[in-house]
Amino acid sequence: MWKGYNFFINEEMPLQQIPVSQHLPDDQFVIDDVKLMDVPMLQHILKQLYDGRSPWSYTIFLLELSRKDNGRYLKISFEGVVVGFIGIRIERADAHITNIAITPTFQGRGLGTLLLKKAEEYARNNDCISLSLEVKRSNKGAIRLYQRLGFEIKGLKKEYYKEDLEDALDMIYWLGE
Ligand SMILES: CC(C)(COP(=O)(O)OP(=O)(O)OC[C@H]1O[C@@H](n2cnc3c(N)ncnc32)[C@H](O)[C@@H]1OP(=O)(O)O)[C@@H](O)C(=O)NCCC(=O)NCCS
Repeated sequence: MWKGYNFFINEEMPLQQIPVSQHLPDDQFVIDDVKLMDVPMLQHILKQLYDGRSPWSYTIFLLELSRKDNGRYLKISFEGVVVGFIGIRIERADAHITNIAITPTFQGRGLGTLLLKKAEEYARNNDCISLSLEVKRSNKGAIRLYQRLGFEIKGLKKEYYKEDLEDALDMIYWLGE
């Protein structure tokens, strides 16, 4: 997960509104663009995952959702309830995954993989040559998942996370042909 901004922003920014809606084969899960009204739910998911505190403030979400040309946030819902999301930001030819989270009771069912595949599709459609992300060094489960999908460790960012100064692994997935 990207560590976030260190500054405050003007909250009056246009929202990214790129229509996409995908019904999955079993028709139980729906992937769609995140909207501003989803942010409290996304923060609720993050709180469940990070000891009751969302590492991303409302302001960070707002700024990220305002990226019109080079970013996309997708949510995955079950029976109308958001159970996870992923954020992607394009920087030159790289699509950077800024955040990915699946609510605890829905983990281990392939939803994270599905969102990562969507990110890959979005990256390819935007002529990116790589997908990248940062992950806490101790997050062994997520690292295993990323490696299974083709990510490799590119480097280490020392004391990257400001809340606990944990190191981040810098991971990259070369998309190729
Ligand atoms: C990492 C995360 C997004 C994966 O989503 P997911 O829907 O559980 O992933 P999938 O079901 O597609 O894949 C499961 C794989 O993820 C890994 N994994 C990571 N955390 C897991 C968890 N809590 N439960 C089950 N699998 C987990 C396992 O390696 C598993 O691999 P396996 O199938 O070989 O056993 C999700 O576990 C999560 O939200 N974790 C907390 C937030 C986080 O760490 N985000 C990543 C920040 S970089």
